[in-house]
Amino acid sequence: MSNALENLLTEDRVFVPSPDFAKTANAQPGIYEQAEEDWAGYWMNQALKRVSWFEEPQSALDDANPPFYKWFTGGRLNLSYNCLDRHLEKAADKVAYHWIGEPGDKRTITYRDLHRQVGQFANALKALGLKKGDTAALYMGMVPELPVAMLACARLGVVHSAVFGGFSSDALADRINDARSTVVITQDFAWRAGKEVALKANADIALERTPSVRNVVVLRRTGSPVAMQEGRDLWWDEAIAGQPDTCEPEQLDSEDPLYILYTSGTTGKPKGIVHTQAGYLTQVLTTHSQVFDLKPDTDIYWCAADIGWVTGHSYIVYGPLGNGATSLIYEGAPNFPDFDRLWQIIEEYKVNILYTAPTAIRSFMKWGDEYPQKHDLSSLRLLGSVGEPINPEAWMWYHRVIGGERCPVVDTWWQTETGAIMISPLPGITKTKPGSATRPLPGLSADVVDEDGNSVPLGGGGFLVLDRPWPSMARTIYGDPDRFEATYWSRFPGRYFPGDGAKRDTDGYFWLLGRVDDIMLVAGHNISTTEVESALVSHPSVAEAAVVGRKDEVTGQAIAAFVTLRGNVTGDDALLKELRDHVAATIGPIAKPKSIVFTPDLPKTRSGKIMRRLLRDISENRQLGDVTTLANESVVEDIAAMATAQTTED
Ligand code: WT7
Repeated sequence: MSNALENLLTEDRVFVPSPDFAKTANAQPGIYEQAEEDWAGYWMNQALKRVSWFEEPQSALDDANPPFYKWFTGGRLNLSYNCLDRHLEKAADKVAYHWIGEPGDKRTITYRDLHRQVGQFANALKALGLKKGDTAALYMGMVPELPVAMLACARLGVVHSAVFGGFSSDALADRINDARSTVVITQDFAWRAGKEVALKANADIALERTPSVRNVVVLRRTGSPVAMQEGRDLWWDEAIAGQPDTCEPEQLDSEDPLYILYTSGTTGKPKGIVHTQAGYLTQVLTTHSQVFDLKPDTDIYWCAADIGWVTGHSYIVYGPLGNGATSLIYEGAPNFPDFDRLWQIIEEYKVNILYTAPTAIRSFMKWGDEYPQKHDLSSLRLLGSVGEPINPEAWMWYHRVIGGERCPVVDTWWQTETGAIMISPLPGITKTKPGSATRPLPGLSADVVDEDGNSVPLGGGGFLVLDRPWPSMARTIYGDPDRFEATYWSRFPGRYFPGDGAKRDTDGYFWLLGRVDDIMLVAGHNISTTEVESALVSHPSVAEAAVVGRKDEVTGQAIAAFVTLRGNVTGDDALLKELRDHVAATIGPIAKPKSIVFTPDLPKTRSGKIMRRLLRDISENRQLGDVTTLANESVVEDIAAMATAQTTED
């Protein structure tokens, strides 16, 4: 970036927490200032208050060897103990998970049930020879046995490496090999949109080139037949048969590894992000309580992410169970059997807290208001968003149509690498602005800097940096500490660079502007994709938009837009012109897209992020790059065909 990032979009709407919400909120005013007086001490207090220790830590932060920070050294603990055992005395019969299978089957799992299942499965893993420090790969769908397997690993000090069930056998094999997993835990098939996803068969292909794997444990989910390899594969039921349902938790060191989770970033070999025990648990428990305002005795909490992503690790498994919450897990697709599945579930279970992603919210907008409107959503009291910048108009839709204008919306910025939420409103304190993640949470710190690392004054844009260590930070990239240092800590020495652009408004609120790799350079201006996309989404006909910079002889890059329309709107030349004028009027003529293509769908990663790289390839008529991490492969071909058919230059 030659200049700091342009600040084009202004947003004047402000939402103040209601007095009722504010009065009973878990996080109360004063907390930021208190934490700031001694931020390491603040985290130490959280650790002592929220975590049950076998041995308490001696110090908060060990910064002797940056960027390889340590937290809560000297402590001994077990996360499965913190998620299960410690609740048994008071809350054994409390529901930990309401589970809803896609075909409609249901299970209710109490803390007592979960404790037994985890104990039994931990004993099964022990019987397979797994011990502290070994790694197990988990390749599963959204079944209760996935958290059971994670917690069984955590109980033994076995490092889990979950691989999202939508990944291919190649992706699985690479991740198994990189982590040298010795056991794979999977299931016969997973249900997704009425179809059976062949997890075991995919795993079998991967297993042809994963020499480290000794055993495969297979959960029977759909019951359709699968091949089992004698001596290597065993059914979950066989593995637990005869195993006692109690298992002593290992007393682990604060800095023993808990899990590896791979993140691909935009390019290159996936990075095995390593999280450890105590710092991770401390920040996950703190944020889960503060940001979602969780009231464990009364709330029904639903994080609708996949457990195979970090959002699920932190906010379906470790956070909610550690805090003794009652959560919901839904196995399948949001549009199965119809577009109202989520809303039907919220009505049926009287869900109070919903956490989902902008990609999902924009799909709901596209499908139409009639689906949520068919259901009573009045139990909801708080809404969360994560995964991408949320366009102000999507935020408004979420607030109005889902939240009935009653629920605070928390837009939470974080990453696989940060382990827990970093920048987010606190719902009883923070005035929210649609599209802004607001401010770093208490005890945390961030800045926006120019390319030389100088802080950009309020009102300007640049690179987001985290300028202080935090408890749930990634400790390294598995097997590659040099890459960890080079990727995150070398661009601005001493500070963590997450790879995102951001601006701050005059109130100091942070507005995330997407990955810096996506920034467009148009006639000497650095323009973020997020702002142009949000301008497009603010038009009532638009549900979703992606923009990219494509080579242009005059301006260096020109903005190419791809637009998905809402409900029954059809795209024509008049609308094209209207949208281009709308962008010019909203954020300025410099940001007017040179071309717009209407498309029924956008290329997305399997976690739902728009893949602008492929749209750049299409816009510049290049051979398409790597599409293996794409969720919807056929869509790029369709868009490419449409892009040639409708070119809309002036
Ligand atoms: C990247 C991290 C965090 C769990 C899910 C994704 C983008 C995430 C926001 C947000 C703007 C966001 C960033 C970040 N991102 N949340 N609220 N506003 N952007 O984890 O796959 O590691 O992705 O997602 O670009 O760097 P991930």
